[in-house]
Amino acid sequence: MQSTAQLLRTDRALTAPADDAGIHPHVAAWPWRFEVYHPGLREVLPAVQAWCSAVIRHEPPRRWLSLLGPSGVGKTHILKQVLSCLRSATARGLWKIPTATGQRSPEVAHLIPAVDLQDFRAPRDYSRYDLIYIEDIGSGATLDKGAGAVTRSRVAELLQLRSNKWTLMDANLYRREIEHQLDGRIASRLKRDGSWMVEVPPEVGDYWDR
Ligand SMILES: Nc1ncnc2c1ncn2[C@@H]1O[C@H](COP(=O)(O)OP(=O)(O)OP(=O)(O)O)[C@@H](O)[C@H]1O
Ligand SMILES: [Mg+2]
Repeated sequence: MQSTAQLLRTDRALTAPADDAGIHPHVAAWPWRFEVYHPGLREVLPAVQAWCSAVIRHEPPRRWLSLLGPSGVGKTHILKQVLSCLRSATARGLWKIPTATGQRSPEVAHLIPAVDLQDFRAPRDYSRYDLIYIEDIGSGATLDKGAGAVTRSRVAELLQLRSNKWTLMDANLYRREIEHQLDGRIASRLKRDGSWMVEVPPEVGDYWDR
């Protein structure tokens, strides 16, 4: 026979919401500006909010969030807001990095590969940050062949080094294209270990043509 405590536990488990952690209150209260002007954009904001909540709560293993899809649909627009939301969480003492002796403020960087990965040491430097946003991981593809190939290999190197670290990225490429044009291991990592990946379908038009 079940004890009262067991019955109470069962009762609570039945009534608890599916995701009992839910969206962090700071993230829920943040003034997100993202218009869902096409059904293909519905997944974007919930994924972003869930990822921010996981960051603030130090919830591994969902370390990566990638937004892939057409140009002008708001990928960079929303990921810049993620950085603002998390900076504000730090300012309010809600998001800190635990250390052996206490805690410290997180180090965050926003980088554009074709500009910021020109130095061969850059992938290693950026691998040390607590959280980075790599804007347009396919950007090297539009450069001339030599520079484009170097940028792509630096993006791949950086992502290899960031396998266990909070990393945001967006691209004009889908996962299949990343597999062929960038790196097969990166493409597979985008979906593995609970990494969040949102692919906006190709029929979603530019925001300014909506
Ligand atoms: N869903 C959206 N809600 C509100 N504003 C949007 C949205 N999508 C785009 N915009 C507006 O359009 C501008 C361009 O969007 P953004 O730069 O985010 O596109 P992108 O998806 O990153 O494209 P690209 O792949 O070319 O970098 C934004 O600065 C913003 O003003
Ligand atoms: Mg962009």
